[in-house]
Amino acid sequence: MKTTTPRLLGLCTLLAAIGAHAAEMPRIVAKDGRHALMVDGAPFLVLGGQAHNSSNYPAALPKVWSALADAHANTLEIPVAWEQVEAKEGQFDFSYVDTLVREARKHDKRLVLLWFGTWKNTGAAYTPEWVKFNNARFPRMIDQDGKNSYCLSPFGQDTLAADKKAFVALMEHIKRIDGEDKTIIMVQVENEVGTYGLARDHGKRAQAAFRQPVPAAVLARQKPAAGRPAKGSWAEVYGDYADQYFHTWAIASYIEEIAKAGQAVYGLPMFVNNALRDPLAEPAPPWKKDFASGGPTHDVLGIYQAAAPHIAFSGPDIYMPESNKVSAILRQFQTRDNALMVPEMGNGASYARYLYQIIGKGAIGVAPFGIDYAEYSNYPLGAKFTDKRMVEPFAKIYGVFAPMQRQWARWAFEGRTYGVAEGDDRAAQNVEMKGWKATLSFREFQFGEREYLKDKNEFMAGTEQPSGGVAIAQVGPDEFVLVGQQIRVKFSGSGANAGKPSMFARVEEGRFDADGKWLMERNWNGDQTDYGVNLPATPTVLKVRLGTY
Ligand code: DGJ
Repeated sequence: MKTTTPRLLGLCTLLAAIGAHAAEMPRIVAKDGRHALMVDGAPFLVLGGQAHNSSNYPAALPKVWSALADAHANTLEIPVAWEQVEAKEGQFDFSYVDTLVREARKHDKRLVLLWFGTWKNTGAAYTPEWVKFNNARFPRMIDQDGKNSYCLSPFGQDTLAADKKAFVALMEHIKRIDGEDKTIIMVQVENEVGTYGLARDHGKRAQAAFRQPVPAAVLARQKPAAGRPAKGSWAEVYGDYADQYFHTWAIASYIEEIAKAGQAVYGLPMFVNNALRDPLAEPAPPWKKDFASGGPTHDVLGIYQAAAPHIAFSGPDIYMPESNKVSAILRQFQTRDNALMVPEMGNGASYARYLYQIIGKGAIGVAPFGIDYAEYSNYPLGAKFTDKRMVEPFAKIYGVFAPMQRQWARWAFEGRTYGVAEGDDRAAQNVEMKGWKATLSFREFQFGEREYLKDKNEFMAGTEQPSGGVAIAQVGPDEFVLVGQQIRVKFSGSGANAGKPSMFARVEEGRFDADGKWLMERNWNGDQTDYGVNLPATPTVLKVRLGTY
């Protein structure tokens, strides 16, 4: 057992009293297959927004902060580009990072920095010019015909050394300016890595490595293809998957070197993000030029875990608006070994309802992309609007979660939370909880049942597009907190309560304050509860208690 001497205790008390102690280091913790991001020593829910790619300059920040404030976001994800911090080799300029951190504190936001280094959306665009145009020193991948690819090779030793050096310098700088406050809570290493159009490098070093036996750590986490030997070369063990798996291992190993070196100087949690492959093609078929080979796609998370232990998780960048795809993606990226965090998501209005599903499933965070009033829209991936109309669908939901985010993150870590978004099919859904089932339906009028309507195809105004969702926390055996919109929720006994008649004991509308205290505004009864609870278009927080008789 650890003991603290009285002298040390005295020192701690003194430091605490004068506020001179450093905040606790952010870290990701796991328990029973669930995860939490600890910030200042307690679970934290990232209600994030990602800035546009070119907003990583002091002059661009005002339009980022105003969008973030309107969104009620608590965290900004924003790039730090290798080209901007080391335009001349060996000369570092972190003045942008200084401005960013200073302004983040002023705006009361946390930061997730995105290291745009060797690879940004697989390409070399964010490397400094002295890297971009020196193939001899910083080799590109070579294809089967001996031609250069656009993508830098993960076997480029000088490229790795140079990227690592710049990243370490960044982490040293962060430690210097933020080691006390911890405004920066995570770092993404590279951005959407992998290679389009070419499965792996065929350069000399790559070819030699490809002939080597698959490392034991990879074998332990990535099963051989059906009917293949348990060990041997990549081609022997993985057959049609060999090129993709080998490239995945090569890129993950490269990223590991960078993350490990960065964490050795300042140990922030680090992660990677992923340009997704088709989530519905399962089991995942071999690569056919249909996604970036080598990226941390759901089918190769095991290879990343084996090769890059300093990477905490891979996060899906969700630009697939279909609800069945989103559900599959969330399932694939939330595993015992991979904390769910959605570092990017389209900022079109149809994505907003997924916040309920993502937050309810116990993600450590989410960040729609392009929460930034720069006059740029990435439509059709995201919204056409670049003003308040873009932020509004997310803002109203973040607005209700913001004051209770610490409380919610605790419940999620305890495994009490569930999340649902309205499907494209508009069909009802069930959620099984402990002793209770919630039946969720959409497009309902707030009063009465559908069969009472003369026209069975008459629907509530404003529900033309799917926009409903709810996040539920079971805070006691018969007690629930609901945060949702455009949804009807009915409860019935299940498990230990199966078959028992039940009714609402109380349905309070209100909100949680920042200390986790419930502030009741009114009690719903009568028409407001006779047909389940019908949450309006405005996100609403209810505290529901049920009973059986
Ligand atoms: C995913 C990338 O990670 C982002 O940086 C950005 O390029 C979006 N795609 C598209 O806007």
